[in-house]
Amino acid sequence: MAKLGVNVDHVATLRQARRAAYPDPAAAAKMALEEGVSCITVHLREDRRHIQDADLFAIRKLPGCRLNLEMAASDEIIAIALNVRPEQVTIVPERRQELTTEGGLDVAARPEFYRDLTKTFSAAGITLSFFIDPDQRQIEACAETHAVAVEINTAAYSEAVSDKDTAKTLRDVQRAAYTARNLGLILHAGHGLNYRNVTSIAAIEGVEELNIGHSIVAQSIYVGFPSAVASMKRLIEAASQKKRIAG
Ligand code: PXP
Repeated sequence: MAKLGVNVDHVATLRQARRAAYPDPAAAAKMALEEGVSCITVHLREDRRHIQDADLFAIRKLPGCRLNLEMAASDEIIAIALNVRPEQVTIVPERRQELTTEGGLDVAARPEFYRDLTKTFSAAGITLSFFIDPDQRQIEACAETHAVAVEINTAAYSEAVSDKDTAKTLRDVQRAAYTARNLGLILHAGHGLNYRNVTSIAAIEGVEELNIGHSIVAQSIYVGFPSAVASMKRLIEAASQKKRIAG
């Protein structure tokens, strides 16, 4: 059954807009955990535009928190990850000029580098996941690094406007999910998922975790954070349930 991982980066975005002391991403993470989510995700970006090192340490200390650290494969952030020891790291490409992560990692272009990275995290007992586009070549490259998991980028699906593009991009994610499962990779997905588009992705066979941030933080302005988290969790669970009945 697909589970919800809540990304609290944009709680920090709101705080950093004023360099204020609030809202606190660790407080939001605690509320999400109280709603029974599967993990808390944060992206410690090299430019520290939202999550700060202190947020990462505070979230790490929350009881019962399975922490997924999204990160670029840079020496500085790798050292921090090995010190903080999240349960999982998700390796993403990072460009300072981008508004958010744009596109998946090109694992196929640097197989040796990513194989070594997988070894480093595996030796530290940390699960490594690569954030990749729904591209067969990339999935095969991830399996060759002996990565434990992949997160399929759902940005193209989330940004599709026409029914035709939505159907095509959904098929791409479904095919990628099928390949990843067949290669023994744990399957995650995320990016741009919201209350209207999450169901089709949550219903994909074998998807274990969906990492969702922006839409939940946006919805929390209207309904409060616990309620925004709970309704996303219900949607994901309902989609997984339906799939089981259908199957
Ligand atoms: N997964 C990855 C790898 C991401 O980079 C992001 C954005 O930080 C997300 C999931 C969450 O995306 P969104 O904020 O659009 O839900």
